[in-house]
Amino acid sequence: LKTTIITAPFSGGQSKSGVEDGPKYLLRFGLQAQLKELGWETFIDEPLKGKNFEDLKDDSTDVFENCKHPKIVGEATKLIYESVKLAIFNNTLPLTIGGDHSIAIGTVAGSFTKYPNAGLIWVDAHADINTPKTTISGNLHGCPVSFLMGLDSEFYPPELQWVPKVLKPNKIVYIGLRDVDPMERKFLQNLGIVAFSMYHIDKFGINKVIEMALEAIDPNNENCPIHLSYDVDAIDPQFVPATGTPVHGGLTLREGLFIGERLAETGKLIALDIVECNPSLGVNEVHIIDTIAAGAAIARCAMGETVL
Ligand code: ARG
Ligand code: MN
Ligand code: MN
Ligand code: MN
Repeated sequence: LKTTIITAPFSGGQSKSGVEDGPKYLLRFGLQAQLKELGWETFIDEPLKGKNFEDLKDDSTDVFENCKHPKIVGEATKLIYESVKLAIFNNTLPLTIGGDHSIAIGTVAGSFTKYPNAGLIWVDAHADINTPKTTISGNLHGCPVSFLMGLDSEFYPPELQWVPKVLKPNKIVYIGLRDVDPMERKFLQNLGIVAFSMYHIDKFGINKVIEMALEAIDPNNENCPIHLSYDVDAIDPQFVPATGTPVHGGLTLREGLFIGERLAETGKLIALDIVECNPSLGVNEVHIIDTIAAGAAIARCAMGETVL
């Protein structure tokens, strides 16, 4: 078993600084050693090394209509895309650690290039399916899914026109939603996207929800590979406080980890993203440690850690 830990220290998909330090904190927490302990041969790739995207966030000309920082998002996600492709074609599991969720433009485009029939499980409080036309905030971390699907593609900033439209509406499923913008809700409805909100998790329980999610992206049991894109804000802020867009009423830490454990059990995982850990937003040291520890635990669970 081999994994490439791909660091994606990028914050340009939203406006709060600090999320670019996620990878550093996760590695300092010992993530690589923890994965080795689980039996993984680990490699590290740093596709954004030497780029100063943080400084470029001050470039006030990097806007397109209502979209903020399309240039750096386009450039960073393209580098991440190449890195994920390299990792996955070398038969290693790309574990991309962010960074904000805009980086999933690169990771999903990369994994689906090798596995076009893959399913995407998007664990998040948010649907991240705004388009440059519908976004209210202008933050591209709220838009990665739409780029991957090619929604409203006539409104894309030039720097993001490279993104391959790899994702079909029946190959994504959401878990954990509780903050969905009105236009996003329209997309989910009109495209018939299967989405499990916190309501469904309360109603059916997390185990049943995952079973339904697996069924939704692979209805004919064709052994479709799975890309898991995990925004840590899916988990309730009482467990994961240091994140940019926290929303109350989320998954318990155990529910959040169970998703990883259950997906590991399927043996179908081909790529994993852990995003939106922002150490700067911890009000105290405990907040930071809780958040980073949760991010690392999600990765370990999804990569095979079991208690017994
Ligand atoms: N829907 C909001 C927006 O488009 C929030 C998105 C939050 N996304 C995230 N990856 N945390 O701005
Ligand atoms: Mn910083
Ligand atoms: Mn989110
Ligand atoms: Mn997200």
